[in-house]
Amino acid sequence: MLVASNNTAVGNSTRLAERSTGDAQPVPGEVTPILDVRNLSISFRGRDGVTHVTHNVSFTVAPGERVGVVGESGCGKSVTGLSLLRLLPERTAIIDGEIRFDGRDLMSMRPKEIRAIRGRDISMIFQEPMTALDPVFTVGQQLIETLRAHYPVSQAEAREQAVQALKDVGIPSPETRVDEYPHQFSGGMRQRVMIAMALICKPKLIIADEPTTALDVTVQAQIIDLLTELSENTGTALLFITHDLGVVAETCSRMITMYAGEVVESSPVDDALRRPGHPYTSGLLRSLPRLSDRGSRLPFIPGRVPSPHALPEGCSFQDRCPHSGDGCERYQAVVEIDPTRHARCHKAKELNLEGAV
Ligand SMILES: Nc1ncnc2c1ncn2[C@@H]1O[C@H](COP(=O)(O)OP(=O)(O)OP(=O)(O)O)[C@@H](O)[C@H]1O
Ligand SMILES: [Mg+2]
Repeated sequence: MLVASNNTAVGNSTRLAERSTGDAQPVPGEVTPILDVRNLSISFRGRDGVTHVTHNVSFTVAPGERVGVVGESGCGKSVTGLSLLRLLPERTAIIDGEIRFDGRDLMSMRPKEIRAIRGRDISMIFQEPMTALDPVFTVGQQLIETLRAHYPVSQAEAREQAVQALKDVGIPSPETRVDEYPHQFSGGMRQRVMIAMALICKPKLIIADEPTTALDVTVQAQIIDLLTELSENTGTALLFITHDLGVVAETCSRMITMYAGEVVESSPVDDALRRPGHPYTSGLLRSLPRLSDRGSRLPFIPGRVPSPHALPEGCSFQDRCPHSGDGCERYQAVVEIDPTRHARCHKAKELNLEGAV
């Protein structure tokens, strides 16, 4: 669900001040979300001043729900994911807004409290598992350490659970492989180890940032099936950041589209694919290769995502949008198309946009 509220954005430019008004509220009667992000604005301090990279990002994830986050490179998907666990560089990142996890306010937590949540209640899977795995320890040692950092279990019990975790993610001969080092695993198997690490403490939420991009297509499909199956079996919610709309279609029940640091649409996946609410989502979908169109030229979205330094006034997508016109130069509030579909476009209700299927 895309939500927005009335808090003031970080910074004081006209653009950001405009964004502080008049957006939709969460629908009453919904399940309490496990993750509730409101008006998350992220900026970085640099030599040339402060750059605002996300603006009032608001969304929720329900317990056990799988939500896909899509958008072109540089739209702010990763910074949003990293900020949830306060993993952005402390010296330069300025984070403003509200992040509630399981009813608790993550923004006001002390580093010690955040560390207790990281890995236990929320874990993260990155694109390149070698950045998260330590080459000098066996995978078993790392799984055991992760578990024992959060739960008072004996070494023997932790080892047993580590073997079980490797088994759960489909690693053959887990009893022997538990004593091997990360470099002894293939890329796909290493990503399985990462998933085992992410799941060993039975978190309520996994944030997966492009977890399969570095893998070949067959292995990608296996890892995606595995993540979906584990999330279904354990009731773990999944925030799945990806470029690949096909993956979202297979894995998730809801899709959030980000553009130039904003959430521009949130819809159930079936709706997002068939009748997207925002012209940008429609553009992304129409750029997908279709079997029937093989050989023909793929439509693509002209132009590029504007740099955070050169955002137009009003709708950030207007320069690339085939439907732009009067009203697009103004700040775009979130429009409720129906209670489950929201888009940041003043024409969202009248446009009959083309989807992928
Ligand atoms: N540590 C940082 N310091 C300064 N700017 C940053 C930092 N990390 C990200 N950015 C900027 O924030 C913006 C959003 O980046 P982000 O990595 O979130 O994009 P993304 O949507 O994940 O893209 P991709 O699909 O390529 O992974 C970009 O303009 C990027 O240059
Ligand atoms: Mg990224």
